[in-house]
Amino acid sequence: MTDLGATIQRDAEGRLRHLITLEGLTREEITAILDLAQFYVRPPGELPARDQSLAGHTVANLFFEPSTRTRVSFEIAAQRLGAEVVNLDMQTSSRVKGETVLDTIYTLQAMHADILVMRDAEPGLPAYVAQHVAPHVCILNAGEAHLSHPTQGLLDALTIRQMKGDLTKVSVLIAGDIAHSRVARSAWQVLSTLGVKEIRIAAPDDYLMPKPREFPGAIRETDIDRAIQGVDVVMALRIQRERMSSAQIPDESAYHDQFGITMERLRKARPDAIVMHPGPMNRDVEIASNVADGSQSVIQRQVANGVAVRMAVLATISRNVQARRQFQ
Ligand code: NCD
Repeated sequence: MTDLGATIQRDAEGRLRHLITLEGLTREEITAILDLAQFYVRPPGELPARDQSLAGHTVANLFFEPSTRTRVSFEIAAQRLGAEVVNLDMQTSSRVKGETVLDTIYTLQAMHADILVMRDAEPGLPAYVAQHVAPHVCILNAGEAHLSHPTQGLLDALTIRQMKGDLTKVSVLIAGDIAHSRVARSAWQVLSTLGVKEIRIAAPDDYLMPKPREFPGAIRETDIDRAIQGVDVVMALRIQRERMSSAQIPDESAYHDQFGITMERLRKARPDAIVMHPGPMNRDVEIASNVADGSQSVIQRQVANGVAVRMAVLATISRNVQARRQFQ
């Protein structure tokens, strides 16, 4: 089944107009975004990359779910490309007074905000909004329910590419609450398209495992000690409590014993394996604190890459808007 977002996000010429999902992006399109992101990466301590790709544009951040990394990195990325940026405080926005999301969007559109970055718990909302905005307005999905988090998938792919090179030789384990994770879904989409050698998904029980038809081609495991054997990449995921009823939330310490990524378990992966986590981390639940801070951790690199990837996505989308304008 093709995701509606995969169709909606392209203009009549097939160019990316919005970024709603990684589904349907070709290897070439993904590689072009990662290459541009790599161009924007600077070593720690150096001044960050800047240009004027977004001069004249107004980016609005609309986060209806909590966010630190994603929201701040979109803000920094847009500013470094010369855009004007507004952050809406959704706790005090008119939506809590009953205004529909579309009315909020139309209000921003009337103020000439033309790139809208959205996070929401409702599946399908970014595609729905994308169908209603004016032709020059772009929607970037910054996290949609348990379904999609495209820029996170791209930054994860960039991080693995930097650390491991040829993805066709890399074995990746995604471990934790896969069922409720948009990070896992977007990672699987991008890594499959880039031809990664193997993806293993591991969750401690059926409840945290996705439906059988999801993640085709991935190896499924419920035993973390078996799943981690010989992998090159370990991606740990948080338990998404906000998507569960209180009765379903596992006991944290029992979860850590049964399934947490500990030093002892990490030794079963390849000696040069890297450890990733999208954040926010629950230390000593899904990941031991000493693993998160250890020499194999690339968690801070993921954060740095997040800014570069969002710059690349913003620059790509705005270039496509300009190309469309020239033919209008
Ligand atoms: C993730 C998210 O919001 O989906 N965080 C992020 O964007 N860096 C993962 C999570 O909340 O666990």
